[in-house]
Amino acid sequence: MADETPQTTTGATTDATAGQTAEETTAKAAPSRRSVLGWGGAGLALGAAAAGGTAVALRTGGDARPAASAGDAVPFRGAHQAGIATPVQDRLHFASFDVTTSDREALIKVLKEWTAAAERMTAGHEIGDGAFGGQEELPPDDTGEALGLKPSRLTLTFGVGPGLFEKDGKDRFGIKDRRPQALIDLPAFPGDNLDPARSGGDLCVQACADDPQVAVHAIRNLARIGMGKVAIRWSQLGFGKTSSTTPDAQTPRNMMGFKDGTRNVSGTDTAALDKHVWASGKDGAAWMAGGSYLVARRIRMHIETWDRTSLREQEDIFGRDKAQGAPVGKQRERDEPNLKMMKPDSHVRLAHPDSNSGATILRRGYSFTDGTDKLGRLEAGLFFIAYQRDVRDAFVPLQTNLSRNDALNEYIQHVGSAIFAVPPGIEGDDDWWGKGLFA
Ligand code: HEM
Repeated sequence: MADETPQTTTGATTDATAGQTAEETTAKAAPSRRSVLGWGGAGLALGAAAAGGTAVALRTGGDARPAASAGDAVPFRGAHQAGIATPVQDRLHFASFDVTTSDREALIKVLKEWTAAAERMTAGHEIGDGAFGGQEELPPDDTGEALGLKPSRLTLTFGVGPGLFEKDGKDRFGIKDRRPQALIDLPAFPGDNLDPARSGGDLCVQACADDPQVAVHAIRNLARIGMGKVAIRWSQLGFGKTSSTTPDAQTPRNMMGFKDGTRNVSGTDTAALDKHVWASGKDGAAWMAGGSYLVARRIRMHIETWDRTSLREQEDIFGRDKAQGAPVGKQRERDEPNLKMMKPDSHVRLAHPDSNSGATILRRGYSFTDGTDKLGRLEAGLFFIAYQRDVRDAFVPLQTNLSRNDALNEYIQHVGSAIFAVPPGIEGDDDWWGKGLFA
């Protein structure tokens, strides 16, 4: 895929919102960026260009067309990866990858190329020489379907799964002793009906954007770049957010019709984020300081059964009313819940930190509908995503409690599961996804 020819570089930047400048015209005559840097080098040089996270295009040899005209870009760089505390976007494409190469250097090369491509895409730019700016003899660097679309607040959040550290008893990449203790193999919970083909994975990328095509384009291109070294194990599209990290915004509703995300860790509550979401160097794995742990669960809903359930029972199950999302006995959504007024098996009562020794997660899930099954039932549910500082005192006790006692269990089934360590954000010009782990 990549041409590795070492060359000299142009490296100038320009404002993507401006039209064709004299500089761009000059750049067009310059050698192609792909022939100039190769993929790894391109990524490293891009750092400064997209550091601001807004529409800034790196001049390519062929053309400096950005995939977006202006605005709406979330900064890619920072102490933490974007896509966790970031205000939740409307759409999701989540991909879990198996690493198919056993060559450590080949894997590192993919991760560097991914970082470079991710930085380009989140800023709203085409990858490398773009969809039609490069050498005609080679496949284009970018597949093109995001051309003309805005950055759409695209965030790409990268994680590593347990299998990267050890698989079938083998320390494939010499990093077995770097596995964080918090990156556990999740225990089996009562009621689990997990499909191995929709579970696990060595790497993950969570793509969130306000435009589904932008999210899908990002995952597709990362898979394309990694071809032969990594392969998508499973992926999930999500069409509607079911959580909120912005308490002032309207809370979205899930497929059961209830407001979902009312009580969540706010993306601006730095004290809560430090306490419950960001891993600290003192937690064990120094390379994870500023990172977080992600649990993904594909939860199928028995929609047709739910739809035949009375409103009273539906509200009892959650412990909140359907209209406002107010807790039992209260008027407004944001009123403080009185857990004792809720049924003992209600979801909110059981999930509340007070019922779980303070266990707290940042929820960032999405509704999904993957058509219908053989019986004509909606293949729908919640693709649950939770971030936390340590799953052992967050998701695990919470799900242990819910899986045993939650009245909601009659209407849902967990059918997919995965856990990933999500490293801290990209900082510095020569940084790349996983650098701290492989250093
Ligand atoms: C299909 C499955 C699920 C549905 C439909 C669902 C729905 C809801 C709804 C409607 C609320 C109330 C509004 C809110 O505060 O956000 C809620 C709260 C909550 N849910 Fe879930 N949920 C599901 C699965 C889970 C799972 C698997 C967990 C964790 C293991 C979880 C953890 C929580 C937490 C922590 C709260 C907030 C409780 C509070 O502090 O008041 N949920 N959920």
